[in-house]
Amino acid sequence: MGDTVTGRDLGGVFVVLEGGDGAGKTTQSRLLDQWLTAEEIPHIMTYEPGDSWLGQRIRQLVLSPDSGPICSRAEALLYNADKAQHLDEVVIPALREGKVVVCDRYVDSTIAYQGAGRALDPDEVGQLARWATAGLVPDVTVLLDVDPCEGTGKIAAKDRLEAAGDEFHLRVRQHFLDLAAAHPQRYLVLNARNTRTQISEAIRHRVAGLLGR
Ligand SMILES: Nc1ncnc2c1ncn2[C@@H]1O[C@H](COP(=O)(O)OP(=O)(O)OP(=O)(O)O)[C@@H](O)[C@H]1O
Ligand SMILES: [Mg+2]
Repeated sequence: MGDTVTGRDLGGVFVVLEGGDGAGKTTQSRLLDQWLTAEEIPHIMTYEPGDSWLGQRIRQLVLSPDSGPICSRAEALLYNADKAQHLDEVVIPALREGKVVVCDRYVDSTIAYQGAGRALDPDEVGQLARWATAGLVPDVTVLLDVDPCEGTGKIAAKDRLEAAGDEFHLRVRQHFLDLAAAHPQRYLVLNARNTRTQISEAIRHRVAGLLGR
């Protein structure tokens, strides 16, 4: 693996939320936003794919039912083009200003979802993503882990699960866990079935530590 740079190397703190569909990433990013605001800690909230001018167009291309077929390699390149632009336009400038950057999904989602489709080797997708992101790794990745078969009683998630098949989502979960296990010091793996409050307190504790509080 090539050289890596963390958010703190650039002067800020880079926090990423990862996990399967409906695991609670957006819920927890909102709670973290509330806490950072209350503590008057300069921060931005962002997400992938799509939170840049180019990313919005890429997101439309990849997710719109109006699009034609997109082969696996083209899809991987599009998601990674989104990342490159997002870092350049949004994430890195904020980190250089000393801000906390909270990002809903990042490299691990690309590896887990693309790799779980079995069309591409997850290690190769990881190499591509590291190149696209110039080795920027989160100071902490919060992985909201949940068995996709159990879920947390979420009908929307269940619909998507049925659409793509249980096996696919089980492999997505395993990819996330494997990535966390490879660099345990950079991850906070939490049981997504815990209460919102329990989860948000664990996240705050970790982020406060990264801020030296
Ligand atoms: N800890 C929790 N326990 C029970 N339900 C939760 C918990 N956290 C979130 N939820 C509920 O689960 C649903 C999905 O949450 P949320 O939208 O935050 O997930 P997500 O990971 O952002 O999903 P997506 O992958 O679709 O963006 C919402 O209805 C939310 O209110
Ligand atoms: Mg969400």
